Amino acid sequence: MDTFEAISSRRAIKKFDSNYKMTFEQIDSLMKLTLLSPTSYNQQNWRFVTISDQSIKEKIGIAARNQAQPVDGSLVILLCGNLNAWKDDPLRYWKNHPVEKQELVKSSLEKKYSESLQNRRDEAMRSCGFAGQTIMLAARQMGLDSCPMVGFDYDEMAQIINLPDDHLIVLMIVVGKSSEPAKERGGQLSLGEVVFENKFP
Ligand SMILES: Cc1cc2nc3c(=O)[nH]c(=O)nc-3n(C[C@H](O)[C@H](O)[C@H](O)COP(=O)(O)O)c2cc1C
Repeated sequence: MDTFEAISSRRAIKKFDSNYKMTFEQIDSLMKLTLLSPTSYNQQNWRFVTISDQSIKEKIGIAARNQAQPVDGSLVILLCGNLNAWKDDPLRYWKNHPVEKQELVKSSLEKKYSESLQNRRDEAMRSCGFAGQTIMLAARQMGLDSCPMVGFDYDEMAQIINLPDDHLIVLMIVVGKSSEPAKERGGQLSLGEVVFENKFP
């Protein structure tokens, strides 16, 4: 499958085959690819909780207002942001580069994030957004389907996954084999409504 096909065949799947189980190798490969997604300053401020344990998936299903996807899908991934990644031993984010580069990034991270919770939250959203799209497209390449979800009780979910105080949950993605194709697309807005050449009118 090429990239264009993966993009156009990805849909938010509502019904997953509950008999289909991803292997350890598939999950490992999916998550390794995910880590190649971009983050600002390469700070990799995402943290992922991967759940294939059926009893935990069932708790997640309840937290997700009884939506079926987390229960029937093979793998539930909670994409979380670590709001303190900017100061968590940041030299390692450029460990393959000279120490001057590492120090430069460290001071840039301090400048941008130390005083601003908003910047830290925004960065978590951006990073997990990119990671989420990688997960969904890589899943397509592996012959799998997905559903991105935020329809869940945040506090309940935080408790289920033992979310640390300085982390936030950005979104959940269920991966598995669809048992029913997605319904017709809702309908895309026209290019003219959402794309502007050079500047807004
Ligand atoms: C951030 C986000 C949250 C979503 N939450 C849910 C959800 O809780 N349940 C669900 O069935 N679909 C959810 N969706 C799927 C959207 O409804 C779906 O992506 C949209 O209708 C477009 O359809 P498509 O992804 O099949 O192209 C979510 C999508 C995104 C991006």
